[in-house]
Amino acid sequence: MIAPTLYVSRLLPEVVMSALKTRFTLTADPGDAPPTPSALLAGLGPAEYAICTLTERIDAALLRAAPRLRVIANYAVGYNNIDVAAAKAGGIVVTNTPDVLTEATADLTWALLLATARRLMEGSDLMRGGSWKGWEPTQLLGAEIFGKTIGIIGMGRIGRAVARRAGGFDMTVLYSSRPGSDGTEASSWGRPLELGEVLGRADFVSVHVPLTETTHHLIGDSELRRMRSSAILINTSRGSVVDEAALVRALEDGRIAGAGLDVYEHEPAVLPGLLRLKQVLLLPHLGSATLATRVRMGMVCLENLEAVRNGRPAPNRVA
Ligand code: DGY
Repeated sequence: MIAPTLYVSRLLPEVVMSALKTRFTLTADPGDAPPTPSALLAGLGPAEYAICTLTERIDAALLRAAPRLRVIANYAVGYNNIDVAAAKAGGIVVTNTPDVLTEATADLTWALLLATARRLMEGSDLMRGGSWKGWEPTQLLGAEIFGKTIGIIGMGRIGRAVARRAGGFDMTVLYSSRPGSDGTEASSWGRPLELGEVLGRADFVSVHVPLTETTHHLIGDSELRRMRSSAILINTSRGSVVDEAALVRALEDGRIAGAGLDVYEHEPAVLPGLLRLKQVLLLPHLGSATLATRVRMGMVCLENLEAVRNGRPAPNRVA
């Protein structure tokens, strides 16, 4: 039997690539870097199945150029990189990778929160720069975490995993539901609050909403003005949920104390203003970056492709 054609846009962990190659014929050899627009077109054009990542913009024109395409398995839980309406109109199934990256992303959120609050990168830079003169009573004083209040914006899978970890720090958890949800999510943390109330009461604000038209710049100038001047903003969701220019202004004016960011509005570009501020800790979109998680994400993609190939509903269909 001839194996069906599969386009894989980026090199995935070896075990995933091997599993894919035993079942499909790859239309192109994926590399570490994002494909150029022409490589993307050349790889996707003849494919019946595809695995893409968040770095590929899959728009209507590209989908029209792939007439045999049946499924796009997005190697991410977020799928804002795909024109889902166009895929649906073209009868193409779109799937994502929920659940398997929840805990890794929640861990990274806490790593970022702790590191930003306690100024870990500044401390590390001091050591590596060779200029540490020894312990000082007032050196690199950070923010307390234990017993403080965390405000979670978007109490979905990852938001809840972040909230569960807050128990270990004896923190109060406040949360707001994502715009567009009915706000009735059952949770151990009581009822959702208005976004403004969460922002006004939290010592740490952590963003966990998907990027949609409604959540674009959900945290903008007026929302940042609701935050405490001692508060720290953490974003491991999507960069464009936060208005980065407004964030830089808020930090420069001292209207908030700091930010820990894993995601950016125009990845891989980072707003120069953010790079200049020492109270901002920047990571290169590492939320799901553990080998075990990245393997699981690949296996979920494979499971979805196989389901459609065998005439079953894709378990993680989003469109
Ligand atoms: C996602 O899954 O959406 C992350 O941003 C990448 O793992």
